[in-house]
Amino acid sequence: MVSLVGVLSGLTLTLIVVALHYAKGTGWEAPEDISQEVLEQRAATVPETEFPEPYNRGIGGGGAAAIPAGEAEGELGESEEEEEEAGFDPDDIADDEVEYYEIEFAKEGETIEVANNETLLDAGEEEGWDLPYACREGQCISCAGQVTDGPAEEYVRHSQNDSLMDDDMEEGYCLTCVAYPTQEFTLETSESP
Ligand code: FES
Repeated sequence: MVSLVGVLSGLTLTLIVVALHYAKGTGWEAPEDISQEVLEQRAATVPETEFPEPYNRGIGGGGAAAIPAGEAEGELGESEEEEEEAGFDPDDIADDEVEYYEIEFAKEGETIEVANNETLLDAGEEEGWDLPYACREGQCISCAGQVTDGPAEEYVRHSQNDSLMDDDMEEGYCLTCVAYPTQEFTLETSESP
């Protein structure tokens, strides 16, 4: 025989416990968003660089859309500089833009016309002169000569230069196998720094 009093008191106790549970809550609270703080800490550990970081290494990811317009223009300028450093391509000179300059080959004792899309070495060889060379790609220094009028960069453009330092070119040295004239000058062949 089930006691009515027992059932009622059990039911009452259960209701009290349930009511207390919801009144008190679980005690769990959503944690504070610390993602920004973590990103700042990570950013502080990355050393400063003078070159733009590739997008996929940027803190917090992101892409081109995150880059302000001004900076994007700056990067374009740098890529143009890189192109210049890579050397110029004589094939870019249109036929009607070819210019000729009087170049005096001092040791050979002659002045010849050299086009701005022709190397000093090729022009000299066409004269039948036995000029030094090895790689013909700007990678050694066998073909080096010296512009006696001033810094080489004021008188020639190199399509490739893996051998001469800025100081060498400042003293007039050039690689005749990849050097194209941009104005008249006197050249001493077989001269290297
Ligand atoms: S022949 Fe090698 S750099 Fe000119």
